[in-house]
Amino acid sequence: MITALIMAGGEGTRFWPLSRKDNPKQFLKLNDDQKTMLQETVERIKELVPIEQVFIATNEAYQEAIKKQIDGIPSENIIVEPMKRNTAACIGLSSVVIENKYPGSTMIVLPADHLIKDKNKFIDILSKAVMTASTGKNLVTLGIKPNHPETGYGYIHYGNHLHTIDEDQVFEVQNFTEKPDLDTAKEFLEDGNYLWNSGMFIWQLDSILYNIEKHLPEIYESLLKIKNALGTDSEKKVIENEFEQMESVSIDYGIMEKAENIFVIPGSFGWDDLGSWPALERVKKVDDNGNVVVGKHYGIDTTNSIIHSPNKVVTTIGLDGVVIVDTEDAILICDKKRAQEVKEIRNILANDG
Ligand code: GDD
Ligand code: MG
Repeated sequence: MITALIMAGGEGTRFWPLSRKDNPKQFLKLNDDQKTMLQETVERIKELVPIEQVFIATNEAYQEAIKKQIDGIPSENIIVEPMKRNTAACIGLSSVVIENKYPGSTMIVLPADHLIKDKNKFIDILSKAVMTASTGKNLVTLGIKPNHPETGYGYIHYGNHLHTIDEDQVFEVQNFTEKPDLDTAKEFLEDGNYLWNSGMFIWQLDSILYNIEKHLPEIYESLLKIKNALGTDSEKKVIENEFEQMESVSIDYGIMEKAENIFVIPGSFGWDDLGSWPALERVKKVDDNGNVVVGKHYGIDTTNSIIHSPNKVVTTIGLDGVVIVDTEDAILICDKKRAQEVKEIRNILANDG
């Protein structure tokens, strides 16, 4: 039995001002498609996992929007975290909830906000990852061949070749390094034996719970209490109490950097995590001046820029490499090279939405 968990509780702050607390990246239509990134994620996985076995973990604020966006998902499959405690807590809570409904299942964990161009290839690799995960107490990831020293990703140092399933190779993982600094990322790129962590994980419920017990014992204690309370009147209260004091750590730092028995399957299925505004250059049409324009733009000597303004005309003179984003109540004007820092703007405005 295969189950899927879509993690949809992040805010995607680097797409401010389009992404907001109440309209996070997974609810945006960044692709040319008419669907939100979350809807696309659900559509994709439905090829492999029936919708009754698909779960979405999120926080209270997004619960209703998700119900509206996703047709046919049973309401009990929307797992609600009372507060944001990062992906280890999200995956831990979801594992005990899913175990309650589909014990012994192999779980596919997916981010809600990635772009995948070749859906068939993706489903094919994923089913091979499920095969690998079902055979033992291991943690399986899908790896992407890196092409630049990105510091926003996890890096997988792969070692021995375990086996090949229909042309796709499965490797043992020697080390996992989450978000290295730039010099380290450059070394990894040159070394050649590193892959980017796609942020997708495949494992049996038992395997991940075992690893949480081993590497994050306090979170595990909380999960045991939650497990005992599931289905009782105190369920909500217990989850709230346990989350209140739970450590906020990502699955990458909390488990993947420490665990043994990790396997990786390299895959090329047109993956892009659309991390920040300049990523639009990879998914939208770039015009002769090197600009990506959503909306109307008239420019004199304006090159290599991202201009997103669906409702107002933007005019520019003598600009190169800038990001301009207009929304109803906020405007971003930013050096394209510094687009990663947009998340800090969100911090400055934290109380203002
Ligand atoms: N439910 C829930 N609760 N979801 C969450 C939470 C949470 O507290 N925090 C984050 N998410 C969701 C996000 O919405 C996203 O879909 C996914 O979990 C991953 O979180 P990000 O915050 O986007 O992680 P990241 O991009 O910094 O890093 C991860 O992804 C990279 C690839 O895109 C790591 O796994 C890296 O190793 C990886 O390379
Ligand atoms: Mg991400």
